[in-house]
Amino acid sequence: MKKTTFLIIVTITGIALAGIIFIQFYWIRNAILLQEEQFDNRVRLALKGAVNQMYESKSDTCNDGLFCTHNCLKHDSLLPSGINVDALKPLIITEFSEVGLHGPYVYGIFSSNTQRAEYISKPAYKAQLLHSRHTASLSCIFKNDQLMLAAWFPDERNRAFHSIFWWLLVCFVLLVILVLGFIFTIYSFLRQKKISEMKSDFVNNITHEFKTPIATISLASEMLLKPSVLSSETKARKYAGIIYDENIRLKKQVENVLQLALLDRGTFSLKYAPVDLHQLIVKAADSFQLLVKEKNGSLKLQLIALNHQVYADVMHLENIITNLLDNASKYSPGIPEITISTFNRNDHIVFAIEDKGIGISTENQKHIFRKMYRVHTGNLHDVKGFGLGLYYVKSLVEAHNGNVNLHSEPGKGSRFEISLPLDYLNNKSLNLKPDES
Ligand SMILES: Nc1ncnc2c1ncn2[C@@H]1O[C@H](COP(=O)(O)OP(=O)(O)OP(=O)(O)O)[C@@H](O)[C@H]1O
Ligand SMILES: [Mg+2]
Repeated sequence: MKKTTFLIIVTITGIALAGIIFIQFYWIRNAILLQEEQFDNRVRLALKGAVNQMYESKSDTCNDGLFCTHNCLKHDSLLPSGINVDALKPLIITEFSEVGLHGPYVYGIFSSNTQRAEYISKPAYKAQLLHSRHTASLSCIFKNDQLMLAAWFPDERNRAFHSIFWWLLVCFVLLVILVLGFIFTIYSFLRQKKISEMKSDFVNNITHEFKTPIATISLASEMLLKPSVLSSETKARKYAGIIYDENIRLKKQVENVLQLALLDRGTFSLKYAPVDLHQLIVKAADSFQLLVKEKNGSLKLQLIALNHQVYADVMHLENIITNLLDNASKYSPGIPEITISTFNRNDHIVFAIEDKGIGISTENQKHIFRKMYRVHTGNLHDVKGFGLGLYYVKSLVEAHNGNVNLHSEPGKGSRFEISLPLDYLNNKSLNLKPDES
């Protein structure tokens, strides 16, 4: 998919998602307003019902005890207006519960003219009750006094929210899933895109790397077939030599690719044996010396580890060293200055391969151990490679229960530190499978 098409799709999907979130919030707000309206209506109904009940009780004085005289009631339950508080309470509770309103709430009777409270079920909330929007006039009962029956709900604001809480929660969880899903899809897409770019770089590199030796071999064999060349032994040797060298180069490259397949499947088997790491480093450095000298560079050894015996697969260990040396030389554009050092740390031997080459940025340091990853400038054909070396190094070092550390600064150079457990820890510390020993 083209970058612009991808951006258009992501933008449209992002806008659609933002739209859905906005609409959800709009509906939630509406739902809360609706709940509040319903609540107001229920309170209004309950208060009206209570007033009606009081009105009906007014005519038969003392029958149900709501309106009494001082003669038939104890003084403290009677209000100045003649209402019996003891009878008012059950009436309010019944009316409120009939419309589904349950505590906590405060109710009372006050004069709307003078703001004088005649009765408040919880006097501490007088101020709130006097300002409550839930009131019903008692003018049908008390013609001149402008009395009001009022109710106040301390949790009024939360009631609407609580009534739709579970819906809100489900809605929120679904939205979070949707947003995370969206982000994850973009992330996976970009990752896949990067992987497919890396793969196509890899195929390009491989084709390029294979084409050169194949072309050289074909040219050299063509020359060999010529009678003039065949008749001269030196010429024939020269072309046979070229074919031989290029063939070895091809073989090495095929091995590299095959190794990748083995690493991927995790089916490589290690032939463990005691190895003198210093000896191995000296051997690898010797065969590398020539290449470094060709570039007028230097390869120094500082092997100061006192204990340098490891328990490892010698062939893979040599490959690890060669890969790191190869990188140190390849990524030193001028004169390579390479140092190999060793030292002991705890029960490990650490060997470090250091160069003063181009270095690696912090961002790239996170990725270079991934298979087929090459730093972008490294894709230039003058610095050849498949991006497999460090993937191989890391996988194999870890298979030996070791670890790789990298310190690098762009423009200053890189230092790869490999730490391996010492020989005497061998079988105890290595996770050997039966067929690996
Ligand atoms: N010593 C180093 N200095 C600077 N950059 C390095 C160094 N070693 C590795 N890199 C960077 O890390 C990338 C990955 O290295 P790796 O050895 O895995 O692949 P490669 O050298 O490109 O190819 P291969 O080793 O498969 O032939 C390289 O492309 C290079 O950009
Ligand atoms: Mg390499």
